Amino acid sequence: MSRPRVRGDLPIIKSQAELETMRHAGKIHARTVARLMEAIEPGVATAELDRIAEQVIREADAVPSFKGYRGYPATICSQVNDVVVHGIPSDDEVLHEGDIFGVDLGVTWGGYHADGAFTVGVGEIDEESRRLIEVTREALDRAIEQVRPGNTLRDIAAAVQSHVEVAGFSVVRALVGHGIGTQIHEPPQVPNFVNGERDEYALELAPGMTLAIEPMVNAGGCEVYWGDDGWTVRTSDGSRSAHFEHTVAVTEDGPWILTAR
Ligand code: MF3
Ligand code: CO
Repeated sequence: MSRPRVRGDLPIIKSQAELETMRHAGKIHARTVARLMEAIEPGVATAELDRIAEQVIREADAVPSFKGYRGYPATICSQVNDVVVHGIPSDDEVLHEGDIFGVDLGVTWGGYHADGAFTVGVGEIDEESRRLIEVTREALDRAIEQVRPGNTLRDIAAAVQSHVEVAGFSVVRALVGHGIGTQIHEPPQVPNFVNGERDEYALELAPGMTLAIEPMVNAGGCEVYWGDDGWTVRTSDGSRSAHFEHTVAVTEDGPWILTAR
């Protein structure tokens, strides 16, 4: 077979002009992240951080990608301690010294999305939490290093999984990364683990593909559950979880991180 087959559709190849539009969205994303970093401190409510993010995005003539997506009510996802992804920010949810806090957010500009996430400690954090954050960030870096024409999604998945498991942590399996462009979620799915015969693994990366790569890493077991709000995903064992994400384009020369600072 000359063309790798993927469940569902093949990834959508973007033109240089489309990549540049996505980079503009990514720069707005990076600016929003920088503003949030300054505002994250003990005592702040996550709904206040949500308002700050929305303001920065709208000042740039952009739109929060998540707000209204399948009914999601906010600009950011608020991921405190055992929340893996998709926590809904609230005025009642206040950050405390020693927490770890992840933010996931999407920016739409010119009809294209940029998606990215980061995790930080709130004030002083314990050593295991510090290591969890560092290992997850490194896992994303290792994955991005695999982004070049001819490599496959298996190379990305294996890079994340090996780095995380050697460190003694676990990779979440219930959620994966994704293609991105005019839609926040486009084909292909981008797993962070190699397990069985998912068709995606054989997919060869080609210039113009744009991927949101997003390792979700638990300090304990990989199992997660969905909360009663229909959104919030937590670790089943109550252990802490970290999440990093960049939107990355495949180019002839390697990765172009569209959400880079
Ligand atoms: N970055 C998230 C993801 O890829 C998107 C959040 S979906 C939302 O899954 F509904 F929470 F907005
Ligand atoms: Co994403």
